[in-house]
Amino acid sequence: MTEHTITIRRPDDWHLHFRDGEIMEQVVPYTARQFGRAIVMPNLSPPVTETASGAAYRDRILTAVPAGVEFTPLMTCYLTDGTDPADLARGAAEGVFTAAKLYPANATTNSAHGVSDVAKIYPVLEAMEASDIVLCVHGEVTESHIDVFDREAEFIERHMRSIVRDFPNLRVVFEHITTSDAVDFVMGEGDQVAATITPQHLHINRNAMLVGGMQPHNYCLPVAKREAHRLALRKAATSGSPKFFLGTDSAPHLRSAKESACGCAGIFNAPFALESYLAVFEEEGALEHFEAFASLNGPRFYKLPVSDETMTLRRVPVTVPDSIPMAGEEIVPFHAGETLNWRIAE
Ligand code: DOR
Ligand code: ZN
Repeated sequence: MTEHTITIRRPDDWHLHFRDGEIMEQVVPYTARQFGRAIVMPNLSPPVTETASGAAYRDRILTAVPAGVEFTPLMTCYLTDGTDPADLARGAAEGVFTAAKLYPANATTNSAHGVSDVAKIYPVLEAMEASDIVLCVHGEVTESHIDVFDREAEFIERHMRSIVRDFPNLRVVFEHITTSDAVDFVMGEGDQVAATITPQHLHINRNAMLVGGMQPHNYCLPVAKREAHRLALRKAATSGSPKFFLGTDSAPHLRSAKESACGCAGIFNAPFALESYLAVFEEEGALEHFEAFASLNGPRFYKLPVSDETMTLRRVPVTVPDSIPMAGEEIVPFHAGETLNWRIAE
């Protein structure tokens, strides 16, 4: 018999973008409605590179959480060539920073201030290892001669292996993995290495971006890869392995910024994130592993308590709107116009 409801511990989103200002105020409630906590990316303009700006950003986010909703933003520090290890350690000790984010310079949106050479932040990684601060990695090389579809696999060989070898006690999250190479890498390493997987990389391959005309709303970074990679990600996410957990990479960009001659990378999936993931677990016949992926593996890796609240989803169809009003304009969400089979019980 088909199950009609599923109840899990309240989940968390271990990777997303809230932006700032009016967009932040409008997107936070979508996440807070579903998730108890979220790891908030620091790629604002200017980026969140210090404890003081991390604390101020956290406080702005908290003002956008609807009354009566429990939600904790977990802040990350944007690493640069000039990051002060002492400030980062202090930020972690004070509870401002839960993790630090490595963006290779110019890999993606607002990453111009990112790290130009991983060797330059070795003293920071040493301090992070000593203070047990999680490292979140955008794992793509940026050299212009490397094919955009090969940039993640290349990053593993050039950087991930050496980071993990040189800092064996540093906890590393390989963010938004998109390839079977990344799945194999994470599976082959110890408990200190894990990965987040987005809904879009479980649902779409690169055809969704390029067939039948350019589809800018399916463009994100790292870009979706070929079908074999999507299948490997689905297998990993739904396997029950504690190394993989939920991280939406929800990344709001207004329609005008997406449908442009130089369209921004990022998919806004926050409004129906859980419904989107649950569709994958149902299709894979793996509903019994949904709670671990959404609610248990992430806290365990981050050494945080699992939620003592629960959440129920019902097998009732829900149609995702074609667009969502945002900051006087609109945003096209992931799954726009599609019907998903599950919805959160109110
Ligand atoms: O698609 C993406 N959008 N990938 C990233 O790494 C950054 C994000 C954004 O900030 O828009
Ligand atoms: Zn991201």
